[in-house]
Amino acid sequence: MLTTPYFLFAAAALVAAAPLSCGATGQSPVLPKTGTGNDLPAPPANVALKYIALGFGIQNYTCAQVGAAANATGALAMLYDITSLYPGQGARSLSQPDFDALTARALWSHDVPLNLNESTEGHVDPESPGASLTQPFPPDAPLELHGIKPLPFLGHHFFNSNGVPTFVLDGGKIYLPAAKLNAVDAPKSANPGPQGTGAVSWLYLGRKDSTAIGAEYVYRVLTAGGASHGCSKAAGQDSTSYAATYWFYG
Ligand SMILES: *[C@@H]1O[C@H](CO)[C@@H](O)[C@H](O)[C@H]1NC(C)=O
Ligand SMILES: *[C@@H]1O[C@H](CO)[C@@H](O)[C@H](O)[C@H]1NC(C)=O
Ligand SMILES: *[C@@H]1O[C@H](CO)[C@@H](O)[C@H](O)[C@H]1NC(C)=O
Repeated sequence: MLTTPYFLFAAAALVAAAPLSCGATGQSPVLPKTGTGNDLPAPPANVALKYIALGFGIQNYTCAQVGAAANATGALAMLYDITSLYPGQGARSLSQPDFDALTARALWSHDVPLNLNESTEGHVDPESPGASLTQPFPPDAPLELHGIKPLPFLGHHFFNSNGVPTFVLDGGKIYLPAAKLNAVDAPKSANPGPQGTGAVSWLYLGRKDSTAIGAEYVYRVLTAGGASHGCSKAAGQDSTSYAATYWFYG
C-alpha cells in the first residue's frame, strides 16, 4: 500500500505539474519544466533523447563543523529504465501526473536500493545511513514498485575517485563522466523526501571529456528529497535518500 504522505505529496505535485502536452502514442517525451519560469536550457538540436531513467539512491554531504555549510560530496544511485513509462509511448505508459510523481512514489514506498552501512557512527543524522564503502550497489535487478510493472535495471550513478559525477548505463554502452552546465531550484511543490529535507536542484550536465561513450548530456529533473540535513546539530558525514529522473541525450 502507498502511504498517506505519498498521496498528499502526489496531490501537491499534481497542482504544480508543468503543463506538458499529452498526445497520441509515439509523441516524443518533452523535458519537464519547473513551472517557475526559471528553467534549464534545452539540449542542442543535434542530439536526441536516448533514455529516461529513474535514479534512486542517496546524496552525500560532509559537515566540517557544527554551523558550517554542508558540502556536497557526491551521490550514489541505481538507474532504472522508465522511458516507456512516459505518457504516450505505449502500453506501459503512465498518465502525466503519475509520471511526474514517480520519483516521490519510489522514494516513499520503497527502501533505498543500495547496500547501506548500518553503522551510523560519525553521521550527522543517525536515522540516515550512508552506503557501504566497499560494495554500495546491490546485484543488478529491476525495481518493483506497488502497482507498476517492474522497472528494468539500467545502470549506476556514482562519483568517481576524482569526484566526477559518472553514469554507466546499458552494460557500458553509455559511459558519461559529466560536468555541471546549469542548475535551477526544484519547484517549491517538489517532494521534500521522507526526511523532510527538501528536493535537490534540477541539473543540466554535459560530458566532461572525450572518454564519454554513447551520450553527451544528462538532465536531473523531477527531483524528490536528497537535500542535506544541515550542520546545525553535528559535524560529520551526511546522506539523504533521493529519487530523480535522469534524461540522457546523445
Ligand atoms: C567539499 O568536498 C569536496 C569533494 O569531496 C572537497 O574537495 C572540498 O575540499 C570540500 N570543501 C570543504 C569546504 O570542505
Ligand atoms: C558518498 O558518495 C560518494 C560518491 O559516489 C561515494 O564515493 C561514497 O562512498 C559515499 N559515501 C557513503 C558513506 O555513502
Ligand atoms: C561502515 O561505517 C563505519 C563507520 O563510519 C566504517 O568504519 C566502516 O568501514 C563502514 N563499512 C563499510 C562496509 O562501508
